[in-house]
Amino acid sequence: MRSPWLSKFSVIFGPRPPLNWLLLCIISIFVLIALLGSSSSSAFDSVTSAAKPNIYLNYRKLKEQATSDYLELKTLSLGPSRLREFSLCGKERENYVPCYNVSGNLLAGVSNGEEFDRHCEASQEGQQCLIRPPKDYKIPLTWPAGRDVIWSGNLKLTKDQFLSSGSMTKRLMLLEENQIAFHSDDGYSHDGVKDYSRQIAEMIGLASDSEFFQAGVRSVLDIGCGFGSFGAHLLSLKLMTVCIAAYELTGSQVQLALERGLPAIIGNFISKQLPYPSLSFDMIHCAQCGIVWDGKDGMFLLEVDRLLKPGGYFVLKPRGHSLSSKKGHMLTAIEEFTQKICWNLLAQQDETFVWQKTVEAHCYTSNNHGLIPLCKEEQDAQSYYHPLVPCISGTTSKRWIPIQKRSSGSLLSPAELEVHGIQPEDFYEDLQISKSALRNYWSLLTPLIFSDHPKRPGDEDPLPPYNMIRNVMDMNAHYGCLNAAFMEAKKSVWVMNVVPIKERNTLPLILDQGFTGVLHDWCEPFPTYPRTYDLLYANGLLSHLTSEGCSIMNLLLEMDRILRPEGWVVLCDILGPIEKARALTTQIRWEARVIDLQNGSDQRLLVCQKPFLRK
Ligand SMILES: *[C@@H]1O[C@H](CO)[C@@H](O)[C@H](O)[C@H]1NC(C)=O
Ligand SMILES: *[C@@H]1O[C@H](CO)[C@@H](O)[C@H](O)[C@H]1NC(C)=O
Repeated sequence: MRSPWLSKFSVIFGPRPPLNWLLLCIISIFVLIALLGSSSSSAFDSVTSAAKPNIYLNYRKLKEQATSDYLELKTLSLGPSRLREFSLCGKERENYVPCYNVSGNLLAGVSNGEEFDRHCEASQEGQQCLIRPPKDYKIPLTWPAGRDVIWSGNLKLTKDQFLSSGSMTKRLMLLEENQIAFHSDDGYSHDGVKDYSRQIAEMIGLASDSEFFQAGVRSVLDIGCGFGSFGAHLLSLKLMTVCIAAYELTGSQVQLALERGLPAIIGNFISKQLPYPSLSFDMIHCAQCGIVWDGKDGMFLLEVDRLLKPGGYFVLKPRGHSLSSKKGHMLTAIEEFTQKICWNLLAQQDETFVWQKTVEAHCYTSNNHGLIPLCKEEQDAQSYYHPLVPCISGTTSKRWIPIQKRSSGSLLSPAELEVHGIQPEDFYEDLQISKSALRNYWSLLTPLIFSDHPKRPGDEDPLPPYNMIRNVMDMNAHYGCLNAAFMEAKKSVWVMNVVPIKERNTLPLILDQGFTGVLHDWCEPFPTYPRTYDLLYANGLLSHLTSEGCSIMNLLLEMDRILRPEGWVVLCDILGPIEKARALTTQIRWEARVIDLQNGSDQRLLVCQKPFLRK
């Protein structure tokens, strides 16, 4: 079943004229001027008067010949310099993540550990160039093979990081010279990830980890995820597990997880809140994640409390030997603090502790272990820059619903939607639109659409190797319905649902559906490594940003940075912004095609593919 506009959907723009051809035209015009100039012995003004109509004529002819792509002509008429393609950045920027320049922050006077925080002020400057892939870069393997074997040349890893000791790293092994294999899910559990997961399930009173989902554990935040193997295992149990870790210059946990096709984002516990609303996760996990939980007067534990839903779990496996007195001291301090915030130590086994957050909001105010004040106001639209708070959040929220009480289905019930102030009809309509849109976008993702015989929307799904999409970003996610559509179509993808700040804050709704997402200001770079997404999708983002006054060129350059070579971009918007973006894609060397929905609206699709550039 396809909705009516789909069958009428067709590609109306022809292939764009090759750049060489346009250049040839410019050159011919200049030759013409030169010829006319030299053949004329009269005064200067007669030359110009003779040349003018010719230029005009040529221009018109050009325009007629290339009506299919008048945008480039518009650019052409503004002068050849505007057509300049960006060059590749230097090798030192291969793994460049803006906003994390520690030495720059120190120079700017930022200290106390906050130099490791996100600071974007200085990152906006600098030359505009395209991030170059490493010399040995190879397109990742398809899911699920790519989860267990990655190309070592795609990451910035040092030899020591392969060989470093410790149980968490032993499961990393070098297969061949250029591949790294992770044996996390092979059934032998040499590495213990499965045993560990089962142990946690037992500690919270379940028979096995396959019962997590039914017990209300749907979303997990894995702080400092190592190589992501625990997350990979939980994902196989249908738990949305997102890895969050600090920016790391080499051996980045976030880069590695994303390379394996596992959800991850840069974030840290220093002075700011994580970019999530309160009551976001069912479980927060830290295995030797390096956070000094007893530091900062318990502010980091308060942040965990803020992020956990009522009845959610905090799983901690501290670093170091159990005999070390330092660790003993830290644990005592943590245990004292957890009593103040109404957490219940469910179990302790070996080196692992599991606490449960209270389901009773009034516990915080009737606590006889010492009161921590409730936060005054719910800070609704949080992004990366909200400072940590020394108070308890979320207790007055309508979303204060114990995880054990949530409905068992994967779609939200009308009552649950109303908690978010959303009309069920709106939501279901959006879901229908997303479902049919997905069917069409997906079928367009083939290099065929850039050829003379473009693929028609609704044609068969593209065959491998083009169908290699795992990490998807919805840059303007609204209710998260594209994500829901992907799930329903059983595509093996996960979606980073980005809610632009200043749009309606639907992030709580997205997270409550068991998806992942983040609030983000698209005038700034996204906290991820280069080449970490396979598909970027944005509906209505361009017109939103145009009204915000940020640079579309910078946005496209940022998209190019986070998109892997041969990755896809689908932009849906009204004609004006699409035309503008189409003209700019030439400069970042994307293949691009504008597609008319042909239903009388001025909505257009811009489908692009990033080429695999080496120079
Ligand atoms: C970091 O900041 C320093 C000082 O401002 C600057 O010289 C350097 O180029 C910056 N590094 C990057 C990668 O932007
Ligand atoms: C045309 O299709 C687009 C894409 O779904 C939709 O947003 C728009 O409302 C439609 N316009 C008309 C006039 O039907």
